[in-house]
Amino acid sequence: MVDRKERLEEEFELGEEVEAIHEYEALTDDYLHITASLIADEVAHLAEARTGVAVDLGAGPGSLVRKLAVRFPQLLVIGLDISFLMTKLARDRARVEGMKNVAFVVADVHHLPFQAQSVEMIVSHGAMHHWRRLDMALGEVKQVLAEKGFVYISDLKRDAPDELVQHIASLLNQNQARAFLNSIQASYTIEELVALAAEAGLGHMRVEPEDFSRRTIAQNIKRLKGSPMRGMRQAAINLRLVGGGNTV
Ligand SMILES: C[S@@+](CC[C@H](N)C(=O)[O-])C[C@H]1O[C@@H](n2cnc3c(N)ncnc32)[C@H](O)[C@@H]1O
Repeated sequence: MVDRKERLEEEFELGEEVEAIHEYEALTDDYLHITASLIADEVAHLAEARTGVAVDLGAGPGSLVRKLAVRFPQLLVIGLDISFLMTKLARDRARVEGMKNVAFVVADVHHLPFQAQSVEMIVSHGAMHHWRRLDMALGEVKQVLAEKGFVYISDLKRDAPDELVQHIASLLNQNQARAFLNSIQASYTIEELVALAAEAGLGHMRVEPEDFSRRTIAQNIKRLKGSPMRGMRQAAINLRLVGGGNTV
């Protein structure tokens, strides 16, 4: 396995943020909205109904925020992202869909703008490999999470089987494929994440392959069948840090 490449400064190495955002938006529309739906259903099974605030770290275009907000109508789901343009895109999309229990903020995961123990749920997808200091970001998660708060943070894993990685890359356009391969190299292994979570005081949470439950798969089977990603082994390519709710 290759050493971890330093966190990505830019998603697509395209220089222009606007261009990178459009490329990511296309990738989301083609592939990632299914993942958002799977994660939202998985979270709905693992975390019992709750009130208060949920935060999606590195929310990007806000797909997971919107899916989660539908499943947890009593929560205010906040999409947090360091990019102003990405946040604007996410806000516009949520407005078009007429969503009420969502909000978006521009902020850095290394300095979360929430009071200690004030957040009921923290989720994230595909963003961790961007964070310059994962130890610091997880420390912030620990700090702002409510006492019985729920965490679901998933991302690619660096030791994913090469043939699977290459196969996925072959389905993408050139820019997307480069971003995907860079992201794999910048991501973490389960062992690395176990150590970092423990250091941040989240050692009681599970770090594991992202293996969706049968129930979640069944709920999304139609979408999965129609997707170019059908048959993909999510657990071979993604990991998750999960804890709180019914999971412990
Ligand atoms: C690959 S995108 C993932 C977007 C979204 N979670 C999804 O699944 O589609 C990563 C996002 O993380 C954001 N990001 C990177 N570094 C960040 C930081 N330090 N704090 C907050 N957001 C960050 C980027 O702006 C980008 O929107």
